[in-house]
Amino acid sequence: MKQLFGLIGHPVEGSKSPWVHECVFKHAQIDGTYLCFDLKEDRLEDAVKGLKALEIKGFNVTIPYKESVLPLLDEISPMAKQLGAVNTVKNAGGRLIGYNTDGLGLEAVLKRHLGSLRGLSVLVLGAGGAARGICGALLTTDIKLLAIENRSIDRAEALVASLNHSGETRAKLSQLCSDPYSYDLIINTTSVGMSPNEHASPIDLNTIASSAVVCDIVYKPHETQLIKNAKAKKMKVIYGIEMLIEQALIAESIWNDLSEAQLNEARQDLMQQIIDL
Ligand code: ATR
Repeated sequence: MKQLFGLIGHPVEGSKSPWVHECVFKHAQIDGTYLCFDLKEDRLEDAVKGLKALEIKGFNVTIPYKESVLPLLDEISPMAKQLGAVNTVKNAGGRLIGYNTDGLGLEAVLKRHLGSLRGLSVLVLGAGGAARGICGALLTTDIKLLAIENRSIDRAEALVASLNHSGETRAKLSQLCSDPYSYDLIINTTSVGMSPNEHASPIDLNTIASSAVVCDIVYKPHETQLIKNAKAKKMKVIYGIEMLIEQALIAESIWNDLSEAQLNEARQDLMQQIIDL
């Protein structure tokens, strides 16, 4: 019988997760299927119970459930617990275990493009579930400074407070920079620019130095307004689709215990397909 995997979130229409996971299934010879479930807010608990009853092998969680899914799971990995956000759930013999692969996925992409993150001043836009994973991972690297900007200030403050657990982290987060020109890397984790609001950008790049790298985790549309604006200013850009691929490959290694070689094969195939997007 086919093994079932999937995604819960809202909206999930047009998600590229099935494309990534089906590609992994092909390369790793897994007889699996990956389905997207569009969930209304009040159905999250029923849905998680239902997926468990159906013996789903693993599922991803996206906007807006990365935080609210935590109390519905049987166990949370230390990293996801610390971040307060889950994007990957593994069904281990009937126990649902939550993980967070967002931050590690983005870190892998950033290192591929930039080599090292050493000494960088980073501005993260947004303070939702995705931002939690990303900020947590960034703070384990040797960046110099991390600033978080969000529409709702209280949510940004709550995120800063929850990340502020060690002395080292405090040092990086406390030097909030007042001069936007000094950022080396801007990462959009908000849903601004996502279809159907394709013409919106989460930041005015005229306030940012053109030497900064702009990374958007929104991947639909492939080229967001933010990425278009950055390219018009000849800034280096990193597309959201790359993070989608990396976080999904990490999720696959959690669900299916895949080897580096199997993941590499799928990665190469997917990256080749991006060129045609
Ligand atoms: P995810 O789990 O993917 O991070 P989320 O938790 O719903 O999703 O967070 C979405 C992020 O996008 C939040 O930072 C949100 O800002 P608020 O905390 O103020 O809600 C941000 N966001 C969504 N729509 C926005 C908009 N129109 N303008 C600015 N920020 C927006």
